[in-house]
Amino acid sequence: METGPNHHNHKTVFPADFAWGVATSSHQVEGGNRNNQWAAWEQRGRIRSKDSVGLACDWWRNAESDFDRAHSLGLNALRLSVEWSRIEPQEGCWDETALGRYRQMLRALHERGMRPFVTLHHFTNPQWFEAKGGFAAPESVALFQRFTQRVVGALGDLCRDWCTFNEPNVYTSLGYFLGEFPPGFKGRFLVAARVMRHLCLAHAEAYRTIHTLQTDANVGWAQHYVVFKPRRPESALDRWLCGFIHRRFNDNFAEGIHSGRAPFPLNKFGQSLPDVKGTCDYVGINYYSRLRVGFTLRSPKTLFIKITVPPHKPQGDSGVEVPYGEAYPEGLRWAVDHFAQLKKPIYILENGVPDRDDRIRPWLIESTLNQMRSLMATGCDLRGYFHWTLTDNFEWNEGWHLRFGLFELDPATQTRKARPSSELYARLIREAMEGAPSSSQAVAAMEAMSQGWQKR
Ligand code: FCB
Repeated sequence: METGPNHHNHKTVFPADFAWGVATSSHQVEGGNRNNQWAAWEQRGRIRSKDSVGLACDWWRNAESDFDRAHSLGLNALRLSVEWSRIEPQEGCWDETALGRYRQMLRALHERGMRPFVTLHHFTNPQWFEAKGGFAAPESVALFQRFTQRVVGALGDLCRDWCTFNEPNVYTSLGYFLGEFPPGFKGRFLVAARVMRHLCLAHAEAYRTIHTLQTDANVGWAQHYVVFKPRRPESALDRWLCGFIHRRFNDNFAEGIHSGRAPFPLNKFGQSLPDVKGTCDYVGINYYSRLRVGFTLRSPKTLFIKITVPPHKPQGDSGVEVPYGEAYPEGLRWAVDHFAQLKKPIYILENGVPDRDDRIRPWLIESTLNQMRSLMATGCDLRGYFHWTLTDNFEWNEGWHLRFGLFELDPATQTRKARPSSELYARLIREAMEGAPSSSQAVAAMEAMSQGWQKR
């Protein structure tokens, strides 16, 4: 049977082993993580909303009831991260109880028919590691390798899908360039490049370590991809800045893996990373939004760049100071095409929108799934989709007010309430598995709206 981009027979496109999941991370959901650099950041009053993470979603005590919710949606996969500061609370001291709790969680996922995807590093560092300089310190590579070996040794019989680092580009640019994440440095280009270099090396070491322990492991990383567009297309300066940011942000880490190139500007000084080349079994893409890039004299520390979103574009709820970004599902194609050069299977490891009232999330989910269907119909090797996220959780420097969950959470009472999107996602998965055609009401309504936006 012929399958083309417009052929809406899900069964012919999504294979039965396609991973349908949600993504989470330890600090954002577990609660009680007081020994990492994000806890210290919060104590220093650096969360914009002044919220505190507190119990988060209470997963350390009870992840299982959320696993039940995920299971009830028909998910067959779930992405979570392990918290280094729990597993190695002091340098060289290992907490077997913490590893035991992760074993319990992974077993609970298997019991519910869900395939665990484990991220080894999702932004958080133990305080002792941060005190040594975090990933700016050369010994960070060996310390991360030792951690990886321990984790995979302890959990390897329960997991074979590993993600080494979550968004090295976000970690580096927000921590060392924009100053919004710990350690809060602004405009430290050379330190940022050094951190990126160590992340590449740590990733490659972790890749090899995992494969030594587990021959059939599936190892990759999560690459955040942003679609950048010049704010004033007629301005040569905006166009140049846009291209520059695109290459630096979207490519720095991936280039290391693709061709062994050292991150900019180290590559200009003759550095290369030959041992990093080829160290991935898949590319994980975290895709959320499109941003406009323009020149402004007001921010010399951040390369005179101003990031904006035109007000008439579809957007989720705003951050405290900055717009979160334009919700632009078509951009998934750009992201996937961009990493096709690595010739590896692709998983969408995160995708979502902060949307307390579920205004545009249903449209976003359905449009994104349609994009995936058409990408796969044209030969793209997509293996899974993980929505960010299951239950509202603590959004880093923003706090509680950005609501990404398929389920609404009241952190004070820990009560959850399903948003309509959760049922939609469940239905779309069911239909994808059964091969039934989907209704595209939400898409049609939103497309009509967006045509209106474009005309303005
Ligand atoms: C991604 C992060 C994830 C979450 C979402 C909204 O950049 O990986 O932890 O904060 O954004």
